[in-house]
Amino acid sequence: MTGPEINTARLRLRQFRAEDLVPHRAAVDDDPAVTWAHERRPLAASLRSWAERLDEWQRDGFGMWIAEVAATREVIGHCGLQRLEDGDEVEVGYYLGRAAWGQGYATEAARACLAYGFDECGLSSIVAVVRHENAASRHVLEKLGMRAERDGVFYGADATLFRASCR
Ligand SMILES: CC(C)(COP(=O)(O)OP(=O)(O)OC[C@H]1O[C@@H](n2cnc3c(N)ncnc32)[C@H](O)[C@@H]1OP(=O)(O)O)[C@@H](O)C(=O)NCCC(=O)NCCS
Repeated sequence: MTGPEINTARLRLRQFRAEDLVPHRAAVDDDPAVTWAHERRPLAASLRSWAERLDEWQRDGFGMWIAEVAATREVIGHCGLQRLEDGDEVEVGYYLGRAAWGQGYATEAARACLAYGFDECGLSSIVAVVRHENAASRHVLEKLGMRAERDGVFYGADATLFRASCR
């Protein structure tokens, strides 16, 4: 199981390929403004993450996609579903390079990820965690109809857990 390709109005969500490593790192892992820990991620960490994400597709039937702009094939980041910190919950996540911000791409991508999780994977509930200061991402989750449920520490940072339930 490597997961299907999903086409939204403007984006293509597709499986990671080796040639994505360099443009994806330039957009996401090399920019402290984009990573969860606000630190550059070394090349080894990027490689390990993509290997783990491919395993997750096999294990869970969901995972992370590369997000590219359909019209230009520009790799702008990644998004998808994954298990929350080894727990039972499934979270939606999205990480886009700065050049792609402010155009509604995160909302468009995350909406497609939620639909995949509910409609194709049969999930009854999907969560998201967002650092308190990340107002743009909180706003994305609110636009998606997700509700703030509780504060906690996730992946080593103070954050709020949001939830969407299958209707
Ligand atoms: C957060 C992020 C995903 C947003 O991506 P994006 O494509 O710009 O998001 P969208 O355009 O779909 O929506 C952002 C919304 O937040 C709003 N917004 C942007 N900055 C904001 C701010 N500082 N305060 C409040 N709202 C803000 C935008 O106006 C937009 O709302 P609107 O459509 O009502 O105008 C992107 O900045 C990113 O990838 N950041 C780094 C990684 C990250 O934080 N990922 C999420 C982890 S929880």
